[in-house]
Amino acid sequence: MRTQVAIVGGGPSGLLLSQLLHLSGIESVVLERRSRAHVMGRIRAGVLEPGTARLLRRAGVGDRMDREGHPHGGTHLSVRNQGFRVDFEALVSEQVIVYGQTEVTKDLYAARDAHEGTIIDEVEGVTLHDAGGETPHVTWVKDGTEHRLDCDWIAGCDGFHGVSRRSIPASVLTEYERVYPFGWLGILSETPPVAEELIYANHARGFALCSMRNANLSRYYLQVPNTDTADAWSDDAFWSELRKRIPSAAAEVLQTGPSIEKSIAPLRSFVAEPMRWGRLCLVGDAAHIVPPTGAKGLNLAMSDVHYLHEALRHWYEGDRAAIDGYSARALSRVWKATRFSWWFTTLMHRFPDQHPFDQHLREAELDLLATSPRAQAAFAENYVGLPL
Ligand code: FAD
Ligand code: DHB
Repeated sequence: MRTQVAIVGGGPSGLLLSQLLHLSGIESVVLERRSRAHVMGRIRAGVLEPGTARLLRRAGVGDRMDREGHPHGGTHLSVRNQGFRVDFEALVSEQVIVYGQTEVTKDLYAARDAHEGTIIDEVEGVTLHDAGGETPHVTWVKDGTEHRLDCDWIAGCDGFHGVSRRSIPASVLTEYERVYPFGWLGILSETPPVAEELIYANHARGFALCSMRNANLSRYYLQVPNTDTADAWSDDAFWSELRKRIPSAAAEVLQTGPSIEKSIAPLRSFVAEPMRWGRLCLVGDAAHIVPPTGAKGLNLAMSDVHYLHEALRHWYEGDRAAIDGYSARALSRVWKATRFSWWFTTLMHRFPDQHPFDQHLREAELDLLATSPRAQAAFAENYVGLPL
């Protein structure tokens, strides 16, 4: 089998890349390890930057997002159980859209199906060959039979645990990593959100986030030690701890109910450089991970897709140099979002070894954010996403 671009991984970045390439007349095949139902069932990110929303519209997959997504013109931060609002519209004339990654993925699958795109799921043993040379190809096993796909380019869209990044020789790749000494315990509950906008809460007991998917589906998170397990947290214990960390006014009106999903995600910052080796380009979580504070993970994956799509389009139009700039262009934005996510994580969380001095500094910075339009503007500019 032959195609122009072999895409390893059918998560949001692989699917969006295949859709944009198709619209530019470039063929691709997507290879996905899991079943489609599994990929669509994963509860992950919830907030889209306006640049991501524009990209999805350009890819022809923005209609349902525009109908069913919830534009948010600001967000709330909280310190010592007192909330305050940062007004994105007033400060930077932008809104974010609350629309779950599961929905984005469903829309992308629907679009690829409508255009008869080739997505091969439940593939095993994907292996990249000659990615650093001139005859790149990918092999895999499906239903006990080995298959081979020859291509011009391989896009490694296979997430942090995928095979693509590991196919680059260690002598070529530099990896930067910070693992945080806590995780996020997240629950989904069929209850109305506690507030119209998100609330990010710093508290001496630990961080909490109140988010949502729609008018009757709430998503809440608590900072927990890395040693905790989701099973050890009863719903009652979760709600009780959440009430202690969020603004008092929100705690009073919080509606609780049974959780329909409960899981713990570890927090890490990770960047691999460069994002291109020969005919292989890494995209999204395959190349970088941010802690979820600030909702940058999915949005960064989408901006990588934008840069790679542009570079490949130029390459197929005869401009062979554009692809040389892909890694540096993507990494410039990646590092800025890595900085913001690290800063916001540090500001909002309690670290196990922290001194009361550190909590005072965090509270002072949040007090500054509560009162300084200039500090708020810098936060808003990063939160809504830096320009593509
Ligand atoms: P992925 O979504 O990871 O997709 C990669 C795909 O490749 C997967 O479908 C995988 O099955 C497939 N794959 C892997 N290995 C292979 C292989 N060898 N062969 C073939 N296919 C393979 N971001 C936020 O902004 N907010 C959040 O709240 C948030 N929560 C998260 C919770 C969890 C548990 C995780 C893991 C991530 C979360 N993120 C969050 C990050 C966000 O979901 C990711 O940044 C986003 O999914 C990146 O998209 P991607 O397509 O690059 O990678
Ligand atoms: C969600 C996750 C985030 O990491 C975030 O910053 C905001 C919202 C969410 O899952 O809804």
